[in-house]
Amino acid sequence: MYAYEAKKFNLPSLDGISDESVKQHIGLYEGYVKNFNAISAKLVEYAADTEKNAHALSELIRRKSFEFDGMRLHEHYFEQFEGGPKAFDESSPLGTAFAQGYHGHFNEYFKAIGSMRGPGWAILYYDTVGKQFQAGFAGEQHQGHFVTLPIILALDVWEHAFILDYGAAGKGKYIEAFFKNLNWGVMEKRFAEMQQ
Ligand SMILES: [Fe+2]
Repeated sequence: MYAYEAKKFNLPSLDGISDESVKQHIGLYEGYVKNFNAISAKLVEYAADTEKNAHALSELIRRKSFEFDGMRLHEHYFEQFEGGPKAFDESSPLGTAFAQGYHGHFNEYFKAIGSMRGPGWAILYYDTVGKQFQAGFAGEQHQGHFVTLPIILALDVWEHAFILDYGAAGKGKYIEAFFKNLNWGVMEKRFAEMQQ
């Protein structure tokens, strides 16, 4: 069984998201990696006698995608800050596609999704079949995904992402800080890879 290892992120100090908040957040990410590996190992044991382990097995199967999606989404999230902030380039292929898909209002639209109530993620996917974006809200981190679609941008809007810096009512300020720190080169690279 393959055991995942927590990635290390080369992050600069962020503007408006404190080092302490990032440190605690990365600790949570590492917890998802650890839990996913532990659940996977346990399920191998349970598979030996599915009848005897039926209840425990069904509980862990439900939790498994929660842990996996938490792991993978946080990797997308932190990578978006690596290399330091780089402004969105309207003349890039991603910029051109946004202009067609969102009439230049992508940020506002995505911020509105991020501001929805409840723990979850605002996620921008790209459908290479329809050649169009799908922006959505994944409840917690495993519900409401657009299956098979690769992810361009992932915004964590769980309280743990902002409560230390902004308090429970600070989601809006945190989302502004998130956008300020993005390296759009990362998203442009993801989009370019999806065209291949
Ligand atoms: Fe998170």
